[in-house]
Amino acid sequence: KRVAILISGRGSNMTALIEAARDPAYPAEIALVLSNRADAVGLERARRAGIRTTVVDHRAYPNRAAFDAAVNARLGVEGIDIVCLAGFMRILTADFVSAWHDRMINIHPSLLPLFPGLHTHERAIEAGMRLTGCTVHFVRAEMDSGPIIGQAAVPIAFDDTPDTLARRVLAAEHQLYPLALALVAGELVHVRDERLVVHSALP
Ligand code: GRF
Repeated sequence: KRVAILISGRGSNMTALIEAARDPAYPAEIALVLSNRADAVGLERARRAGIRTTVVDHRAYPNRAAFDAAVNARLGVEGIDIVCLAGFMRILTADFVSAWHDRMINIHPSLLPLFPGLHTHERAIEAGMRLTGCTVHFVRAEMDSGPIIGQAAVPIAFDDTPDTLARRVLAAEHQLYPLALALVAGELVHVRDERLVVHSALP
C-alpha cells in the first residue's frame, strides 16, 4: 500500500512511521510526506530519510475546499492508497474526508472519546485522571472522531506537568502509530457499523 503522511510541524510520528516502513515485511510504503507549511521541521527529516516531500501552502488557496482539492490532486498523482494524519493542523472538509473514507487515519494524544481537540494533557491533568494515552482512529468529518483502531494507555504521575506528560504519551504514540497503520495497510482490520472488525487471521 502506498501511504502519504500529512504533517504541519516536527513530524516525530511521521519519523516513527518512516522507520517502521523500512522493514521489507512492513505492509506499507511511505510514498509521500505532504505539509501545508514550508517551514515544517518534519519536511527536512523526511527528505533526509529519502522520502519524497511536497508543500501545499494553505495560504495560496481562497478557501478550505480549494486547498483540499489541491491536496487531493497531489495524492491522486502519487497513487496514494492510505493517508496518515500526523500533527496535521488543518481542518479537512467533509468532501475530502468522505473521499478518503476508511482510507485515512489520525493519531490523537488522548484516550478518545475523552479530550478531543487541543491541550489534551493539560485537560487530563486538570480532570484528575490517573491514566491517559493516545488513539489511532479512522477519520470522520467531526474532528477527532471515528472508529478506533488502537489505543495505548499511559499513567499520569502526581507531579506531571503538561510537558512531562506529553513526552511520555509521545513515546507511546511512536509505538502505536506504526502498529495501527500495519493493521490497516495489511488489511487485517476493517470497519463495519462504525466499529473496527478484526479479521480472524490476525497473527
Ligand atoms: C502529536 O502529539 C499527535 O498526537 C498530535 O500532534 C502531535 C504531533 O507531533 N496530533 P509530531 O509532529 O508527530 O511530532
